[in-house]
Amino acid sequence: MRALVTGITGFAGSHLAEYLISRGDVEVCGTFRVRSNMDLLKHLTDQIHLVECELRDPHSVHLMLKEIQPDLIFHLAAQSFVPTSWNSPSETLVNNLVCQIHILEAVRKLDLNCKIHIACSSEEYGLVYPHETPVKENNPLRPLNPYAVSKIAQDYLGFQYFQSYGIPIIRTRTFNHTGPGRGEYFVTSNFAKQIAQIERGLQPPKVLVGNLQAKRDFSDVRDIVKAYWLALEHGDAGEVYNLSSGTAYTIEQVLQTLLSFTDVKVAIEVDADRLRPSDVEILVGDSSAFRAKTGWAPQIPFATTMHDLLNYWRIV
Ligand code: GDD
Repeated sequence: MRALVTGITGFAGSHLAEYLISRGDVEVCGTFRVRSNMDLLKHLTDQIHLVECELRDPHSVHLMLKEIQPDLIFHLAAQSFVPTSWNSPSETLVNNLVCQIHILEAVRKLDLNCKIHIACSSEEYGLVYPHETPVKENNPLRPLNPYAVSKIAQDYLGFQYFQSYGIPIIRTRTFNHTGPGRGEYFVTSNFAKQIAQIERGLQPPKVLVGNLQAKRDFSDVRDIVKAYWLALEHGDAGEVYNLSSGTAYTIEQVLQTLLSFTDVKVAIEVDADRLRPSDVEILVGDSSAFRAKTGWAPQIPFATTMHDLLNYWRIV
């Protein structure tokens, strides 16, 4: 069984690589770009077949897939930070959509016999009314930022290629996930890094924050990557599944949980630059369809994830 992971040098990609290697029954391949940061993957590189490939270039993607001939593709590569999508909407939309088109077109033209997982997002639901929570897959999609629109495009493109060409594509709408290695601009990591810096005396005892009232449904990335595997193992081709814990925490609770693991006393200050033109107020998901289909359930408690994340920043 040969699996290809796009975005393998990234946060979820590196955890997925680790999980696939730990299984012992998967040959792991991944794409990287010349400018990719390999830090998260460096302990695994001798166990992965890494191929340089610019996913925005259709010719490179075609050649790469012709060479690798994967049985499974996990398509994780994307511009995934919401604030960047406000600053660079066209870049986010073009990048996220075009890379996927190149993969699907190459699979189609090469007539590859492979299953494809597409990492979509709970951000697609966007504006969710309180009576709609926890959201199910059939909830209306009301995106509130360009990133969310790009994920809807990826999501529906996956649906369309399944319908039009019968390519076995399974989409997951993953709710927030975090853990060691999370990029420093995402909220959990950002707060954890600030606390670790304060502990070391590298930052004054003040944590800068954005909107603390937003509610999010956090899972541990190590549980999520197992779900990605199960999606291809047991999911129905053409389907879309929510991946979520089912519990919502305010961002204030995230901060307080992290602070409960430290002795430092900090002030909390709102930084206007961290506020968004429109923020998704609440995202909490119903993943019962996926759980029933695959037997998946998150194993790692929220507090453990937060503690591991803080410890990650203490030693990085
Ligand atoms: N980044 C950041 N920094 N967010 C903050 C801060 C801060 O200092 N303070 C409050 N927030 C709030 C944001 O306004 C948002 O409501 C929430 O914290 C989470 O922000 P992010 O961690 O940046 O994640 P996200 O929810 O926008 O998107 C993440 O989850 C999606 C799944 O729902 C990303 O991982 C997406 O790629 C993913 O699809």
